[in-house]
Amino acid sequence: MIKTIWPYTKGYRFKSILAALTIIGEVLVEVSIPYMMADIVNIGIENKDTAFIIQRGIMMILMAIASLSLGALSARFASVSSAGFAKNLRGGLFERVQSFSFANVDHFSTASLITRLTTDVNTIQNTYMMAVRTFIRAPFMLIAATVMAVRISPELAVVFLFALPILAIIIGILMSKTFPRFKAMLAKFDAMNASVQENLTAIRVVKAFVRGDYEDERFTFSANEVKDYQVKAEKLLVVAMPMAQYMVYICMIAVCYLGGVQIVEGRLQSGDLISFISYIGQVLSAVMMVAMMMVMLVMSRASMARITEVLAERPSINDDDAKDIAVTDGSIEFDDVSFSYNGNPDNPNLEHIKLKIASGETIGIIGGTGSAKSTLVQLIPRLYDVTSGAVRVAGHNVKEYKIQTLRHSVSMVLQKNVLFSGTIKENLKWGNADATDAEIEEACRAAAADGFIKNFPDGYDTELGQGGVNVSGGQKQRLCIARALISKPKIIILDDSTSAVDTATDAAIRKALNEELSGTTTIIIAQRIASVMDADRIVIMNEGKIDDVGTHAELMQRSEIYREVYYSQQKGVEE
Ligand SMILES: Nc1ncnc2c1ncn2[C@@H]1O[C@H](COP(=O)(O)OP(=O)(O)OP(=O)(O)O)[C@@H](O)[C@H]1O
Ligand SMILES: [Mg+2]
Repeated sequence: MIKTIWPYTKGYRFKSILAALTIIGEVLVEVSIPYMMADIVNIGIENKDTAFIIQRGIMMILMAIASLSLGALSARFASVSSAGFAKNLRGGLFERVQSFSFANVDHFSTASLITRLTTDVNTIQNTYMMAVRTFIRAPFMLIAATVMAVRISPELAVVFLFALPILAIIIGILMSKTFPRFKAMLAKFDAMNASVQENLTAIRVVKAFVRGDYEDERFTFSANEVKDYQVKAEKLLVVAMPMAQYMVYICMIAVCYLGGVQIVEGRLQSGDLISFISYIGQVLSAVMMVAMMMVMLVMSRASMARITEVLAERPSINDDDAKDIAVTDGSIEFDDVSFSYNGNPDNPNLEHIKLKIASGETIGIIGGTGSAKSTLVQLIPRLYDVTSGAVRVAGHNVKEYKIQTLRHSVSMVLQKNVLFSGTIKENLKWGNADATDAEIEEACRAAAADGFIKNFPDGYDTELGQGGVNVSGGQKQRLCIARALISKPKIIILDDSTSAVDTATDAAIRKALNEELSGTTTIIIAQRIASVMDADRIVIMNEGKIDDVGTHAELMQRSEIYREVYYSQQKGVEE
């Protein structure tokens, strides 16, 4: 895991080392302070030497200031380097997610990806900060304070021999029990995020169905679950602190007793006893720090695993073996294609599809909901890869093209489409960043969007809200079609893209497309037969298979499904 994450420390390694070095300085100064104290008592007070006491006192103050400054410096270096590291890591994750295929995103779910990019990275960031400070400070402090204590009185230091192992065992047991609980808590956190995300993206639907209270309840439930798991996990940890305090006091009592005896016998000076007690505090607080460090490690191990999972996920669709070839025409061939979303060939969503489409042809696809119309066309721009068989565009397997080349030539208007915040023009330029204003307007005319855009006061510079909230459903569809047309593709696929426009506009779009895109292969998925009637050929999909292919006239003659749909829709029109 560390190996995957290490590269992201780039640019901040030097600062991290500075943070560690300054913290070591701080520890060295801190452990010398009780030593000074011993001198004041042993020499200054014993000899009633005021000048010596003042001199040592001033030195102690200076050392305290030095320790404080070093500590502050280290904190600064640590926070700068950990924030930088987190920035790198987030950037890396985001870049990785961008390379994901639809199948990869299905695998993680959007909510989980969001948690990983936010909460998990925060946890790792905190751990990193601890790593360059506490991870160095605690063991160093432990060793330095123990050495000092042994130097004062090896006999008293025997107390540590008992106290440290006991504390270590207790902490070890606590930790081994905490880890699974934290892991469970993070899983609940995912569930809560999923609920928030789903709810917020669909807030309009929630309101329309007055499901607010229900959603509230659902959220409260998962928020409560997170709380319960968090409490359960931290319940064990709260025991650790008092336990350590308890050990400190027991040690102090033991040392006071043993030390007192030694002082009476004249084997120990009282100043040494005072500084020894300070060292007990330092040693045991170092052990506590180690314990806290473990907690952080435990928590971050789960987060780290979740982050490396994303970083290690291979995009299921890549073009590593692609050749540098261009898409020369718009012909498409499905060569015995089967496909399954979960990769299981026994449970296919598409079965043995054989279909040849000539360049420039207009193909209509109709079929019941869930008959795999969208699934079929998504294979053409390689949004998913076939499970078996091959999809060819212009005579080459789609896997032979660079993804960018392929998707530039195969424009698809997705069934569930979105616009982004920004102006209309900015959104349209997604299709082709270099498009001129004339080209943009041309595409909009073909999509019958030109008219309503010009009616907006700001025209093409109208700001769209997030997801395109301030345009109507039909306007949004037309903008999406225009966006797809701007790259002048060889193949254009409209997946139910005119479902929200009235029949007259639908007809106008088809007419314009026909005129503007005479050489372009056009695939139109539609619910209305009227939308596909004029197509060169119509494909009827049924439960993942092609039921029939033919012209409107042919299908009217031989396909019962087609006739049925046609007459039911005709009846609707007549009534
Ligand atoms: N991302 C996905 N993961 C798993 N299964 C999916 C996914 N998308 C669709 N399916 C399944 O594949 C089948 C075909 O779905 P598809 O979306 O292709 O139907 P469709 O013909 O486009 O329907 P509609 O007319 O409603 O758009 C359905 O049974 C659906 O449950
Ligand atoms: Mg569909």
